[in-house]
Amino acid sequence: MTCWPVKKVDVQGCQFAVVLEGQGLPVLFVHGFPLDHSMWDHQIEALCKEFLVIAPDLPGFGASGPLSVEVQRMEDFADSLSELLTVLGIREPVVFCGLSMGGYIAWQFWRRHADRLRALILCDTRAAPDSPEVAQQRITNAARVLKEGPEFFAEMMISRLFSPRQLAESSPVVDRIRQVMRETSPQTIAACLRGMAQRVDARAWLGEISHPTLVVVGEEDALSTPAEMEEIAAAISGAKFVKIPGAGHLAPLENPSAVNQAILQFLRDLG
Ligand code: MLT
Repeated sequence: MTCWPVKKVDVQGCQFAVVLEGQGLPVLFVHGFPLDHSMWDHQIEALCKEFLVIAPDLPGFGASGPLSVEVQRMEDFADSLSELLTVLGIREPVVFCGLSMGGYIAWQFWRRHADRLRALILCDTRAAPDSPEVAQQRITNAARVLKEGPEFFAEMMISRLFSPRQLAESSPVVDRIRQVMRETSPQTIAACLRGMAQRVDARAWLGEISHPTLVVVGEEDALSTPAEMEEIAAAISGAKFVKIPGAGHLAPLENPSAVNQAILQFLRDLG
């Protein structure tokens, strides 16, 4: 697997680490939680021959600068990404491809920066907010991560992110993702847990989305289930829905060829 060169870009006092590869229609890949741009390595490889791929580490993650807030709102991530595009000189509207937390940010990017948006790709994400129980569990986990560090949290997440087969085979990709999570700072994990706990209900917005949209979900995703994602696709006019076999919540990593095929087809159809 290629380890893509990372550029450091200063955006309003925060240093973004970002992979920029290829030329053409810009496609912005926004990773899930608590991960970094490397979850998109297979997609960068497949797309950079035809498109301009932009794959940042969100503030606080990977090689980007630290987060200094106690609650990281999805709105603020969306605004920083818009600023990043400005600093990179990318004026053409982008295809925004977000996984899970990246999808929560996509709703906000659509709402706040629609002029910058060409199309949406929503992978393994939710439009519904947390239930009160899930939100409370996030607050509890945030406090525990700050006290104990990220190891327990990484173990808990691993068992939820991958399909049972990947876990049973303990494939190298599972270890790589575990490592990324263990290296994420407790402050970032806590701030994002609190921010996700108070994210808005985006379901009411779905009927207003008129951008071309692709919805992708791992067939065995237990966090954002195929049934829930099919409902999202049905609520967005003209959205395409693709189920990825043999994959859980991290479909782009678990079955990259099927995900790449769906994304490439969608992007080529945009013309
Ligand atoms: C993610 O993959 O980004 C997380 O599962 C999002 C979440 O915890 O809701």
